[in-house]
Amino acid sequence: MKSRSEVLFTKKELEKRFSELANQISNDYKNKKIHLITILNGGVYFFAYLSMQLKNRVTVDFIKASSYGNDTKSSGNVKLLKDIDVDIKGEDVILIDDICDSGRTLKVIKEYLLSKEPNSVKTCVMLDKKERREVAFEVDYFGFEIPNFYVYGYGLDYNNFESRNLPDIYKVIFEEE
Ligand code: IMP
Ligand code: MG
Repeated sequence: MKSRSEVLFTKKELEKRFSELANQISNDYKNKKIHLITILNGGVYFFAYLSMQLKNRVTVDFIKASSYGNDTKSSGNVKLLKDIDVDIKGEDVILIDDICDSGRTLKVIKEYLLSKEPNSVKTCVMLDKKERREVAFEVDYFGFEIPNFYVYGYGLDYNNFESRNLPDIYKVIFEEE
């Protein structure tokens, strides 16, 4: 199918909102150390910006789950490809990802992290496609809610196209031929 793209959020719009989000998180976690766990690869650009705006003491770790592969639809299977390196027992964890779509990835990883007895686990994403949920799952913090668009840029990948390092977020518009 033919497609074209349009800018959905500029870097400036995104980072203004991420600063607000960081303030909200800093207020919610006053005087607490936060352990940020980011899902590779898509969440790293958002994590890097957000973490530098937080006023808290922060430690960081990364986890990797299977992604869409070469399709724009979720396979429904979530596989752990890289585990966390640091024990999270007693930690206040915020799990970060680029986008919440069906909700499967975050639900599965959150449950996995909870089995390691942290003090708390909350989730934070750049974009939330709420209407696409296939499992019951609500994120605690999100930058923007979007409808069912396929998006790329600012960490988000588009069919393994070289799009992660684009500073703005684009939406793909599929056109009938
Ligand atoms: P979920 O498990 O269906 O919620 O999928 C979450 C993962 O799918 C995200 O971490 C992204 O890697 C990927 N994903 C979902 N929607 C998009 C999109 O619009 N653009 C790029 N990646 C997406
Ligand atoms: Mg992902």
